[in-house]
Amino acid sequence: MVQVVHDPKAFRDACDQLRSQGERIGLVPTMGALHEGHLALIDEAKARGASRVVVTIFVNPKQFDRADDLAAYPRDLDTDLDACEARGVSLVFAPKDRAMYPEGYQTHVQVGALAEELEGEYRPGHFLGMTTIVAKLLILTGPCIAVFGRKDYQQWRIVDRMTRDLGLPVEIVGHPIVREPDGLALSSRNRLLTPEDRTRALAIARGLRAAAEAWQAGERSAETLTGLARAPIADAFDRIDYVKVIDPESLRAREGIVDRASIVVAAHLGSVRLIDNLELGVDPAPSV
Ligand code: PAJ
Repeated sequence: MVQVVHDPKAFRDACDQLRSQGERIGLVPTMGALHEGHLALIDEAKARGASRVVVTIFVNPKQFDRADDLAAYPRDLDTDLDACEARGVSLVFAPKDRAMYPEGYQTHVQVGALAEELEGEYRPGHFLGMTTIVAKLLILTGPCIAVFGRKDYQQWRIVDRMTRDLGLPVEIVGHPIVREPDGLALSSRNRLLTPEDRTRALAIARGLRAAAEAWQAGERSAETLTGLARAPIADAFDRIDYVKVIDPESLRAREGIVDRASIVVAAHLGSVRLIDNLELGVDPAPSV
């Protein structure tokens, strides 16, 4: 059986023990409700040389900017533990809120400009909560590598920046987005979609695909690429936070002719907010 610990001190001791046995720890931080996108990160950690994979499952209240989103977030620890077991995870850390943020807690880790745009603009406080918990989890675990999904592209870039800025001795890996056969990016929030909204959600994959095909055909105008990606999403979604062409390194919005670019999307279907992205000319176009 996969070993599960809830107490931070017990978790630190278990990680210390693994390291003292010469194991290379790979860390996969999650908020649970695990799906194939999460499980692919476990495989990636092993493929990158982790001899033991540690998964953390913690719905971090500090990174939710809406109380209703936190309350609705899917939680299913028993199923998650079975999935970890089946995928060969060695250790799962599933702490309670109070264990991570005890009475009197007042320390946060803040990344600068990278965290201000896009999600930073639409979800105030989200990245401050995210970087704080990821820093705490990295320090507790002491992994050689930690794997993040490019589904949360900005999160991955911010975590990479944070670890370099703080000099944390860990390699941060970004794994490509895992999609359903119909192109929808896997997300724990997909479970909250009604069947009808699940169909409407495919507009994101259609928009990304239209932009990717235009790029393939030589289109390099940021405005044209944005328009192609945006049109189907604007038709199907209730509200768009952003559909933007950005520079994949700086994450700044690009205008005019671009040589390297990603398209990033955040949009709402009812109370469910979905995000997605695609690096033009690099990531495969979603099959819609
Ligand atoms: P969560 O949303 O559970 O995601 C955990 C990890 O799985 C993240 O690195 C995310 O990018 C990755 N992931 C989710 N869906 C994916 C997909 N379809 N393809 C590839 N990777 C995917 O992101 C978080 O939790 C939290 O912010 C966390 C980092 C755990 C800090 O609380």
